[in-house]
Amino acid sequence: MNILVLGNGGREHAICYALKKSPILKNLWCYPGNAGISELAIIIKENLSTNKKIKDFCLNNKIDLVIPGSESYLARGIVDELEKEGIKAFGPSKKATQLESSKIFTKKICEEANIPTAEWSEFNKYNDAIKFIATRRFPLVIKADGLAAGKGVTIAKNHLEAELALKKIFKGYFGKAGKKVLIEQFLEGREASFFVICDGEKAIPFSNAQDHKRLSDGNTGPNTGGMGAYSPTPLIDKHINSKIMNTIINPTLKLMKKKNIPYKGFLYAGLMITNKEPKLIEYNVRLGDPECQVIIPRLQSDFLQLCLDASGKKLEDSKINFIDKTSLCIVMSSKGYPENYKTGLKITGLDNIKNNPNIMVFHAGTAINKKNQLVSSGGRVLNINSLANNISEARQKAYSEIKKVSFHGSHYRSDIGL
Ligand code: AMP
Ligand code: GLY
Repeated sequence: MNILVLGNGGREHAICYALKKSPILKNLWCYPGNAGISELAIIIKENLSTNKKIKDFCLNNKIDLVIPGSESYLARGIVDELEKEGIKAFGPSKKATQLESSKIFTKKICEEANIPTAEWSEFNKYNDAIKFIATRRFPLVIKADGLAAGKGVTIAKNHLEAELALKKIFKGYFGKAGKKVLIEQFLEGREASFFVICDGEKAIPFSNAQDHKRLSDGNTGPNTGGMGAYSPTPLIDKHINSKIMNTIINPTLKLMKKKNIPYKGFLYAGLMITNKEPKLIEYNVRLGDPECQVIIPRLQSDFLQLCLDASGKKLEDSKINFIDKTSLCIVMSSKGYPENYKTGLKITGLDNIKNNPNIMVFHAGTAINKKNQLVSSGGRVLNINSLANNISEARQKAYSEIKKVSFHGSHYRSDIGL
């Protein structure tokens, strides 16, 4: 089969790695890709910046299945456009991406299907929000409704912090994403990322992971896209797994189908495991990054076949197997990330890491410059991954490898999985 992957991060590198192992793969294409992905897939050099250009490329190159990695392609309706032309694409329709692109849409789904989540209120006027917080106890969680690159959420410890967060959103800092605001109850507990693969009706767990969202050790510093992860997380045992499926995932899919917005694709539930029960924090309509990079090395089943089965409503539980080992990923980022950072920094030492199924490097933001050197091209640059019998072994392996690599100002956390 001819497959096209859309995206350019560590998640897409891991997806390409999984696809490459499939016996039914013929040609693997990726757009826009990165230096690491170029070792596995044909990188498309022409500009495919619109849905139409992607569609034309697929028709001209007889692409059998498109796998968009990031929400940006999904939210602009790439799946709907391709399917109109009879091209298969594995991901949700534009309407279904509201589960990620509108936090209020998801909260309303939770309300209707009685899904456990933080109590919430919706505002579209600054003054009403200010009146509301005057009556509440802190901390409170303030969120822009729409997509804000992970920056639209503030955990306000007091009135002043809440006021500043509300001002920022209502003054238009997040553009259209901040037209509406949610104010939520703060949930106590531990966070986990839970994944399912869905075919429109049925969802099957696709393992779980724990992300490390803050920039620095001890969960300090600003929120990032994720600085490291491990899978599986001991927070989700068999009992909690069934609870998540029965109280959160299945009711969501059932209601989406009833609303005539069936959900197909990977679905990522960000959960708070509280003393009482798992509660939904948010949905993402894709695999997580870097969670995907720790789940894929544990997958023993054929990733491509699974995506095809799910595209054709033929998902079967028995076909998904994960190895009973721990996988860990450390993200190496550029100085200044998640705010301003330089690109084009020369990366050295990668040749010293010998890739094997237990040690893997996924590229998150890399490119080859005019001098044919490997350089950084993003804020998150490299993912160093290990697979081991337990978490301490996985930590030891990944941390001994990461020391071999460097670029100017490189940064990583030393407490991933600790
Ligand atoms: P979100 O973009 O909704 O995932 O929020 C970003 C981060 O804010 C989450 O990963 C949590 O760490 C935190 N967060 C969001 N909502 C809540 C909440 N209601 N209670 C506690 N923490 C939250
Ligand atoms: N690691 C968090 C995310 O993918 O959104």
